[in-house]
Amino acid sequence: MNRIIVKTQDGDVKISRHIYGHFSEHLGRCIYNGFWVGNDPEAAAAIPNTRGIRNDIVAALRRIKIPNLRWPGGCFADEYHWKDGIGPRQARPTMINTNWGGVTEDNSFGTHEFLDLCGQLGCEPYICGNVGSGTVQELSQWVEYCNFDGISPMTELRRKNGRAEPWKVRFWGIGNENWGCGGNMTAEFYADNYRRYATYARNYGDARIYKIACGASDFNYDWTRVLMEKAGGQMDGLSIHYYTIPGEWAKKGSATEFAEAEWYITMQKAAGMDELVCKHSAIMDEFDRKRRVGLVVDEWGTWLDVEPGTNPGFLYQQNTMRDALVAGLHFNVFNNHAERVYMANIAQTINVLQSVMLTEGSKMILTPTYHVFDLYKAHHDAVKLPVYVESETTGGLPALSASASEDSEGRIHVSLTNIDVKQEQDLKIELRGLTLSPSINVAGQILSSENMTAHNTFDKPDMVKVKDFNAVSVSGARLAVTLPPMSVVTLELA
Ligand code: AHR
Repeated sequence: MNRIIVKTQDGDVKISRHIYGHFSEHLGRCIYNGFWVGNDPEAAAAIPNTRGIRNDIVAALRRIKIPNLRWPGGCFADEYHWKDGIGPRQARPTMINTNWGGVTEDNSFGTHEFLDLCGQLGCEPYICGNVGSGTVQELSQWVEYCNFDGISPMTELRRKNGRAEPWKVRFWGIGNENWGCGGNMTAEFYADNYRRYATYARNYGDARIYKIACGASDFNYDWTRVLMEKAGGQMDGLSIHYYTIPGEWAKKGSATEFAEAEWYITMQKAAGMDELVCKHSAIMDEFDRKRRVGLVVDEWGTWLDVEPGTNPGFLYQQNTMRDALVAGLHFNVFNNHAERVYMANIAQTINVLQSVMLTEGSKMILTPTYHVFDLYKAHHDAVKLPVYVESETTGGLPALSASASEDSEGRIHVSLTNIDVKQEQDLKIELRGLTLSPSINVAGQILSSENMTAHNTFDKPDMVKVKDFNAVSVSGARLAVTLPPMSVVTLELA
């Protein structure tokens, strides 16, 4: 039997819009030939752009109300020296992007370009600093360069480079994956370093910064414990990274050619996010009962084999209905743990891993994952309503997952996923605390397909897209809903 109870009068915490954040690294075609065409005169002439940043991408991300963008990495962040990416572009030094394909990075996209991009997107920047191979002074000066409003060597440099006003960047990451590509540190060593680097990442005037410590990979609970114990008082957020990988590291599985068994393995791995959030949060609770420190899932998503014929170091993968369901499952977990999860960032926005957009020359397509972001934007900064889900099983997993919220105008949104590849699911939704009149206005939108490998291509960009959903009716005091197989739905009750 399928049954969902939404406790409409028990809303307490806000679902931070930053849960719907993005991550864009100097990796493959995410920045270069993704967002940025400013260093390629031919592309810049053919593709409408504003100061080198593609207009179609900006418009699409504004539609899903992108709240923040994490940059410049990832592993790249701990090799990046920000001063190489400012000043006249022709004079910027190059470097080797050792993590991602060994290509030459020309530093044409740097701090000013990134902050211009965030301005165009209307989102908050989240800058990840270099702890692995950088210095305390370097990070400290980056913060000063971006945020100080007085007279100082860094503000003079900023002015010389064409920007008088500080940007007042709030979100700063103190290193990335410092247990691995960010320096192979122990938790104890990193915790001490975190404290040192964080000390000199200053607040200037009203530019108060939110410092995010590098957190654990996957199920490494020891890292979280050490960080909370030794440095919990000095941080605002603690990250975790978790990727959904259906196969083994060496053979992760094709993005578009997979069987039903792989679909369910993927869903099972994606469901691991709930366990991770619960267990890391429980450790954080021991040290931080008031939940002051936010859990920041600043890398999540599917990691699959690259598309045949593409550079293995560029991590370019297609995106199907399977990715859409993974996104829906994750968002329900994040929404339902809004008391601790403050931010999350999908890896990565364009042309890398579980992207929301893919580009080919001047063409740009939206992936099924993009449409899930669209369906869930109703939850941004809305008050979480607790849900109770009783579900049939499929492939050994609950077929259904759900989350709900009430927005500032009193509208209730309920988002639902059905991971079953074959069966539709009939369910009743009880809106506890609400009297349903038969005339209540229930509108719905759905993303679904009869084909689990359905995806959008440059020739057929609308194979998977959001449609109106009508299989919902008022039945006594409940809503009766029929969810098609492989579907993500958001209902709105006004
Ligand atoms: O997103 C790709 C990579 O995955 C990031 O650079 C790194 O932080 C993680 O291992």
